[in-house]
Amino acid sequence: MKLSNRINELPYSAIRKLTPYANAAKAAGKKVYHLNIGAPDVETPQEFFDAINNLDMDVLGYAPTPGTQGLLEAMADYYKSKNIPLEAEDIIVTAGGSEALLFVLLAITDPGDEVLTCEPYYANYFTYFNETGTNIVTFPTVVENDFHLPEREVIESKITDKTRCILLSNPGNPTGAVYTKEEVYMIADIAKKHDLYILADEVYREFIFDGADYISFGSVEGIDDRMVILDSISKRYSACGARIGCVASRNKDLIAAVAKLATGRLAVPTLEMVGAEALYRMDEQYFKDVNEEYQKRRDCIYELLTNIEGVTTSKTAGAFYSIADLPVEDADDFCKWLLEEFEVDGETLMMAPAAGFYEHSEDYKSQVRIAFVLNCESLKKAMHILDEGLKAYNAR
Ligand SMILES: Cc1ncc(COP(=O)(O)O)c(C=O)c1O
Repeated sequence: MKLSNRINELPYSAIRKLTPYANAAKAAGKKVYHLNIGAPDVETPQEFFDAINNLDMDVLGYAPTPGTQGLLEAMADYYKSKNIPLEAEDIIVTAGGSEALLFVLLAITDPGDEVLTCEPYYANYFTYFNETGTNIVTFPTVVENDFHLPEREVIESKITDKTRCILLSNPGNPTGAVYTKEEVYMIADIAKKHDLYILADEVYREFIFDGADYISFGSVEGIDDRMVILDSISKRYSACGARIGCVASRNKDLIAAVAKLATGRLAVPTLEMVGAEALYRMDEQYFKDVNEEYQKRRDCIYELLTNIEGVTTSKTAGAFYSIADLPVEDADDFCKWLLEEFEVDGETLMMAPAAGFYEHSEDYKSQVRIAFVLNCESLKKAMHILDEGLKAYNAR
């Protein structure tokens, strides 16, 4: 039977495309270190499970479409504590940040409209551009500049009468960049001048290293009508499986539009919202502890990577990803080879070839994205495998 052109044109996700090879490696008895995907090994706080266990409920019914009032209020309190003025009615709970992006794109674009973002960008965005029929337009960010934004003129030169929004993940996936106050205000100013929405993907908001300042688009004044936060508990609370996120905006019409779309899927899971509410009620110390752990991992991976001959990388400022340039021609082939043909003491590793995060992928074939979501002990073993693997691959 025929499948749609839409699905036939959709490439496999760079993050998961090597999964069949990883599965085969595991079936053959190898242990695989998963550095391909941002699924942290940090424990989900017990508060999440306790809240669900202590629930007294006879019928597991549909929750309200925008989310339970308790969760919406807990989210609003969290935002206020981060200097982001939002009320419960400015928020719609979604199935992760992923559904948040889909709903917002459906609400603000028509097929053929353009979404402006930086290159490299989070590879899964592409799925939603494809689903909504929007076209991606990128401006470059480069490792030599730690993936900070280019000059204003470079960004503005990409805006056409079809551009509807600027979408940025900050801190960045896959780059680990954290934008400065000047960069955030520059984007806000460009958006005002060209009448664009700002889709601020801030799912890694809590992961900022070296005590750097973090400016959320939600705390910038004068952009109430165009600022949209895409958010999620997946990374913040190491709760990827809960599938809880949100759209938050002070633009009432936009929130009403997203609510209208959300009625089509009725509600997100009730139990996970109960657990998520307890997470949002945890105190600030939780973020401090988790941040410390990720900074340790960042230091670890940076040192390990820079000690491997021929590998270049930049020091990740936020989130938990590093882009590394490897001394190979085709990182896709190398990553596949690691899974299929290589092992050190019965262990190998899986990374995401970074070309899938670029619009101009041909120019970046030697890069990989590494998610430092495992503890330092595991990272050390994984980087040893990478080091030995590079030597063996290049000696073939
Ligand atoms: C930048 C970014 N945005 C959004 C998401 C979506 O996450 P989820 O749907 O689990 O909330 C991810 C997941 O990796 C991400 O890295």
